[in-house]
Amino acid sequence: MSNTKNTKPISRRNFIATTGVLATGTIFANPIHSFFEESSGKKVRLALVGTGKRGTGMFGETLVKRYSDYVEFVGLSDKNIGRLKYAQKYIGADCPIFTDFEEMMRTTKPDVLVVTTTDSTHDTFIIKGMEMGANIISEKPMTTDEHKCQAILDAEKRTGKKVTVTFNYRYAPYKMKIKELLMEKRVGDIVSVDFHWYLNTYHGASYFRRWHGERKNSGTLLVHKSTHHFDLLNWWLDSEPEMVFALGDLEFYGKNNSFRSKRCLGCEFKSECGDYYYDIKTSPHNMKLYVENEKYDGYIHDGCIWRENIDIYDKMSLQIKHANNVLTNYSLTTYSPYEGFRISFNGTKGRIEAWEGIPWQNKKRDQRLVYEAEMSQKKDAKTEKYDPIMVMDNFGDYEEIRVPHYSGGHGGGDSRLLNYLFINPDAPDPLGLNAGTRDGSMSILTGIAARNSIESKKPIFVNDLTDLTPRAKKR
Ligand SMILES: NC(=O)c1ccc[n+]([C@@H]2O[C@H](COP(=O)([O-])OP(=O)(O)OC[C@H]3O[C@@H](n4cnc5c(N)ncnc54)[C@H](O)[C@@H]3O)[C@@H](O)[C@H]2O)c1
Repeated sequence: MSNTKNTKPISRRNFIATTGVLATGTIFANPIHSFFEESSGKKVRLALVGTGKRGTGMFGETLVKRYSDYVEFVGLSDKNIGRLKYAQKYIGADCPIFTDFEEMMRTTKPDVLVVTTTDSTHDTFIIKGMEMGANIISEKPMTTDEHKCQAILDAEKRTGKKVTVTFNYRYAPYKMKIKELLMEKRVGDIVSVDFHWYLNTYHGASYFRRWHGERKNSGTLLVHKSTHHFDLLNWWLDSEPEMVFALGDLEFYGKNNSFRSKRCLGCEFKSECGDYYYDIKTSPHNMKLYVENEKYDGYIHDGCIWRENIDIYDKMSLQIKHANNVLTNYSLTTYSPYEGFRISFNGTKGRIEAWEGIPWQNKKRDQRLVYEAEMSQKKDAKTEKYDPIMVMDNFGDYEEIRVPHYSGGHGGGDSRLLNYLFINPDAPDPLGLNAGTRDGSMSILTGIAARNSIESKKPIFVNDLTDLTPRAKKR
């Protein structure tokens, strides 16, 4: 059923060997620890809601095949019964399935609920899940607006339960190396940042085909996608965003084209659309997960990227002032020839430049396969390749720092995150990798502030959005 060849469960010994690189420094309090305390050393009893791509992949099949010594599924839930039945087989979980979420919580009483539904529904399951006795592991973005965000913060306080937000990008060795350099103040105090993220025409377009294209589902890409980038920024800078001014528009996808259809499958404009046409039949998994189950909920996974009801931005530009006075210029592009990012940290003693995916600075990649590789749950291993970070000293020379390139999903971030979550939640966390609701809030609040700013044409203060006051760690 699955393509994953990597079925060997992970041993604790392997885990320690693969994380040794960063195992120095202070032990930080780990919000995940309480899961294990409550399960008193036994396997963690997991329930999962949202059996789509992420729920069947990283949090489904991968957990069953590689983490079954540590976790067991006690229930799976989705509103789409067809997808749920397929997912149960695909994941290989020997547990009951439920279209009624509360019935699952009541009858299975999980230690931990994994939330992998569409973004705008996370709040319902996070809050109800805690109220019904579980700790929560939620996919990013934690939620999609400031009111839902506040409700999650309140529910966490009220119930005494814990929410972990799975910021897998933090766990990629390249991102961790940047964090290390910043923590050791390699270029002094950081004063400003240039940060630009490019989605290629395959991956970028895919957001406009799927539910993400409507802000009622995703909160726009400023929330759905940029939450990763804003979280990295807050974590790297050890500071929270204070003020955001943003511009954005929809001027390529959606209503901007002269022709449109409902979906790619069977579309009469296939040849006019050229490489923007997506043939869902090339993915048997997507056919089984989505197309064969459209009859239950009407959801179309290969929707037309020129649909009139697309209402998210396709170009976005932000200025962000952090609580530690760092000023950031950030942009997100959704129809770029390549997938990647560039970031520069300007410090009082020099400058750090980092990038990923730039074809003439990295290995040339088949852009069509980049997204597949990002989502792949294949074995994470050190490769022969490396990714450079350039460090320049004022009045001095430059140094190239070579970070080993890892082959697993999201630059090796997915497997490292799962290891921390499920194998050894008490491992030292000197880089502060684990993220709770405060980090989950601050990353989305940047995007929500940007959305409000685009609409009001005014700067937005993050302080005004929830009861959280942005703060910075002392320099
Ligand atoms: N961290 C990452 O790198 C990463 C990567 C991909 C997806 N994600 C996140 O994972 C989540 C799921 O994304 P996906 O790509 O798997 O989407 P998907 O469309 O494949 O799956 C979403 C599932 O949620 C179900 N669902 C929606 N509303 C529901 C409701 N009210 N009750 C029960 N089930 C409901 C749908 O039926 C579907 O099966 C999203 O929040 C997304 O942001 C994170």
